[in-house]
Amino acid sequence: MALLMQTPLAYVASLIALIVVATVYLGKWYRNKQIAETTVLNELDGLGKTRVGGNRIEGTVVIAGGSIAGLLTAKVCSNHFSRVLIVEPEAWLSTTAGTVDDTYSTKQGDGKKPNPRTRVQQYISLHNYHVLTLLGLNQMFPSFEAEARKIDPDAIVSADVKFHFNGRPMKAPLGFYKANLPKLLSVARPSYETLLRKFVRKECDNVEFVVGTVTGINLDASHQAVGHGRRVQSVNIRSKDGVETTEPVLLVVDCTGPTMAGLKWINATDKPLQIPKDVYDPKMHYTTCEFEVDPTIMEKVEFPGGYINARAFYVGLPDSRIERRTMLMFRRENHTLQISCGGWDVTDRPRSVDDIRTFLKQIKGAEPIPAYIFQILDALEDNGCDASATFHDDRCRKNILPMLHVIVNRSFWGVAPCYFVKYHEVVDKLPANLISLGDSVMRLNPVRGQGCTKAMVGAATLSGLLHQFQPVFDAHTGTRILPHDFAKKFYKSQFKRIESLWIETKADDYGWDTTVPVEGETLKEGAFLRWYVRNFVNLTTKNEYAATVLFNSSMFIAPASDVIGPKIALMVAWAGLQEYLSSYNT
Ligand SMILES: Cc1cc2nc3c(=O)[nH]c(=O)nc-3n(C[C@H](O)[C@H](O)[C@H](O)COP(=O)(O)OP(=O)(O)OC[C@H]3O[C@@H](n4cnc5c(N)ncnc54)[C@H](O)[C@@H]3O)c2cc1C
Ligand SMILES: *[C@@H]1O[C@H](CO)[C@@H](O)[C@H](O)[C@H]1NC(C)=O
Ligand SMILES: *[C@@H]1O[C@H](CO)[C@@H](O)[C@H](O)[C@H]1NC(C)=O
Ligand SMILES: *[C@@H]1O[C@H](CO)[C@@H](O)[C@H](O)[C@H]1NC(C)=O
Ligand SMILES: *[C@@H]1O[C@H](CO)[C@@H](O)[C@H](O)[C@H]1NC(C)=O
Ligand SMILES: *[C@@H]1O[C@H](CO)[C@@H](O)[C@H](O)[C@H]1NC(C)=O
Repeated sequence: MALLMQTPLAYVASLIALIVVATVYLGKWYRNKQIAETTVLNELDGLGKTRVGGNRIEGTVVIAGGSIAGLLTAKVCSNHFSRVLIVEPEAWLSTTAGTVDDTYSTKQGDGKKPNPRTRVQQYISLHNYHVLTLLGLNQMFPSFEAEARKIDPDAIVSADVKFHFNGRPMKAPLGFYKANLPKLLSVARPSYETLLRKFVRKECDNVEFVVGTVTGINLDASHQAVGHGRRVQSVNIRSKDGVETTEPVLLVVDCTGPTMAGLKWINATDKPLQIPKDVYDPKMHYTTCEFEVDPTIMEKVEFPGGYINARAFYVGLPDSRIERRTMLMFRRENHTLQISCGGWDVTDRPRSVDDIRTFLKQIKGAEPIPAYIFQILDALEDNGCDASATFHDDRCRKNILPMLHVIVNRSFWGVAPCYFVKYHEVVDKLPANLISLGDSVMRLNPVRGQGCTKAMVGAATLSGLLHQFQPVFDAHTGTRILPHDFAKKFYKSQFKRIESLWIETKADDYGWDTTVPVEGETLKEGAFLRWYVRNFVNLTTKNEYAATVLFNSSMFIAPASDVIGPKIALMVAWAGLQEYLSSYNT
C-alpha cells in the first residue's frame, strides 16, 4: 500500500479502482434489492412447498372467483390453511365440465363462437402467457408441462413470440441464451384455465368448489373496539337458488376480476370506505379470428423454420405517432390458427380472410408486414377456411350506458376500461384479513397480454407472505388469527411488483389522442417514457444486450428497472441523439 501511495498516479489509480469496486458492489446490491422487491423470482420456490413443520393453519379461506387468479390463489392457500373454498357463480365451473375444454368442438355456424364463460368476455379471445407464469405453474404442479403437452405436443415452446415494434422485428436473445430461450405456455385460454382447475381439483384435497356469489363481509366488532384494526369475521355467500349462508373465515381473497366485488363489500360495512381508483379508457377493440387449419395447406408458406414448427408468427405493436392498429398471430392446439386484429379506437371488425388482409395492408410501420403473413392468409382463403372461421369481438372500454348494466346483455358484458384500485394507499383503514389480486386490483390494456401473469405475481406474493408469517393467538376467540398487518404487507408488496405495468402501459396508451386519460391527467403525461421506450425498443432490433434486457424484464424474470440501468440508459440517449440529428438534417 505504501508503495502504491508513492506517486499521485498510483493514488488516483487505486482511488478509481476503489470507486469501480464500490460501484459494482452497490450495483449488485441494488439489483438484488430490485429483484426481491419488484419481482417474485425469490417466491417461486415456495409455491409448491407446504409450511415449515408441515402443519396447516386451522381455519377457512374464502376465495371469491374461480378464474385464473382464484385458482392460483387456491393452490397457494391450500399449502397453508386447513380449508379453502372457491366461491364462483358460474355453476358449470364447479362440476367436472369445468375441467374439460370443448370450445373447439362447439360451433354456432354463423361465424360466432359461443362463449361458455358468461362472466369472462375475453375467455375465447387470443391469449398468450409470459415465461414467469410457466415457472410458477411448474413449481405449483410438477407434472404441469407433461399434462399441457397432452393437450398439444407444442403447448410448451421457446419464448420467442416474434415481437415487432413499428414493423421492425426485435432480436430474440438467442445468442445470449445459446439458442436455448426460456419456455412459455402457449395454449388458448380455455385450455389453460380448465387445466389449472383440473390440477387444483386433483392435487389440492382441502379445496372445495362452491357455486355461489360472495355478497358481503361481516366485520368482527370486538377487534374494532379494541383498536386492533378491522377484521373480517365471516362472509355472506348466496347460492344459485338465492339461499344466503354465513361462512366464518380466517382470510378472504377477492379474485372477482372486473366485478371488483371487494370495493362493494368494504363500502357496505357500517364504516364505509371509498377506495381511490384510477380509471382511463384506451378505447381498445379486438377481434379474435379463429381458423381450423390442416397444416399441409401451409407447406408453401415461407415462414422461417416452417409453419408447422412455429407457434408464434407475429406480435406487432405500432408506433403511436403513425399507427393505431395491432395484429397478433398464433398457432393453437387442435389445428387452429388465431389472428387478433385490434387497436386504439379502431372501427375495423374483420369477418373474413379478405377483411384481415385489408386490415393488415393498412398498417404503417418502418417495415411492412412480412410476405409470409400474407402467404398464410392466401392459403387460408384458397382452401376455403372462411367456412369454418369464427370471429369474436372484444371491447375494453367504459360502459357508456350504465343503465344497461342491469340488463344482462352479452354485447355489454365485461366492457371495463383500464383501472387500478389503490388499496395500497389506504392500507391502515382496510380489514387485516381481506386482500385482492388479479384483475380485481388492476386491469391493463390487454395488448401486452400481461393479465394472467399479473395474477401469478399476486398469488406468488401471497405465498411468500404466508411462508414468512406466524399466526397470532387471539384472546377474544381463543383461536389463531392472521397478524393485524397482514393485508398491509400484502398490498405494499404487491404494489411494488405491479406498479410498473400500470405506468408503462398507461404512458404508451396516452400516445393515442383518442385515449381518455385518468381524471386530472392529460395525454401529455408519460411523454418522456414514450420517447425512452420507443428508442429502447428500437435499440433491441439491433443490439443483443438490449434485446436480452427487454426479453427478461418483459417476461417478468428480471426487474423492470433493468431497462433504465446505466448501460441501457446511455445507449438509449445515444440512439435518441442520432434520431434527433437525423430529423434535424432532413
Ligand atoms: C381481449 C383480451 C385479451 C387478453 N389477452 C391476454 C393475454 O394474452 N394474456 C394474459 O395474460 N392476459 C390477457 N388478458 C387478460 C386476462 O384475460 C385477465 O387478466 C384474466 O382473466 C384475469 O383473471 P382474474 O381471475 O383476475 O379475473 P377474471 O378472469 O375476470 O375472473 C373473475 C371471476 O370472478 C367471478 N366473480 C365475479 N363476482 C363474483 C362474486 N361476487 N363472488 C364470487 N365470484 C365472482 C366471475 O364469475 C369470474 O369467474 C386479456 C384480456 C382481454 C380483455
Ligand atoms: C383436441 O386435440 C386433442 C389431442 O389431439 C384431443 O384429445 C381433444 O379431444 C381435441 N379437442 C377437441 C375439442 O376437439
Ligand atoms: C359506496 O356507497 C355509497 C353510498 O352508500 C355510494 O354512493 C357509492 O357509489 C358506493 N361506492 C362504491 C364503490 O360502491
Ligand atoms: C344489446 O346491446 C346492443 C348494443 O351493442 C343492442 O343493439 C341490443 O339491442 C341489446 N340487446 C338487448 C336485449 O338489450
Ligand atoms: C430506429 O432505428 C433506425 C435505424 O436502425 C432509425 O432510422 C430510426 O430513426 C430509429 N428510431 C425510431 C424511433 O424508429
Ligand atoms: C436474463 O435472465 C437470465 C435468467 O434469469 C439471467 O441469467 C441473465 O443474467 C439475465 N440477463 C440480463 C441481461 O438481464
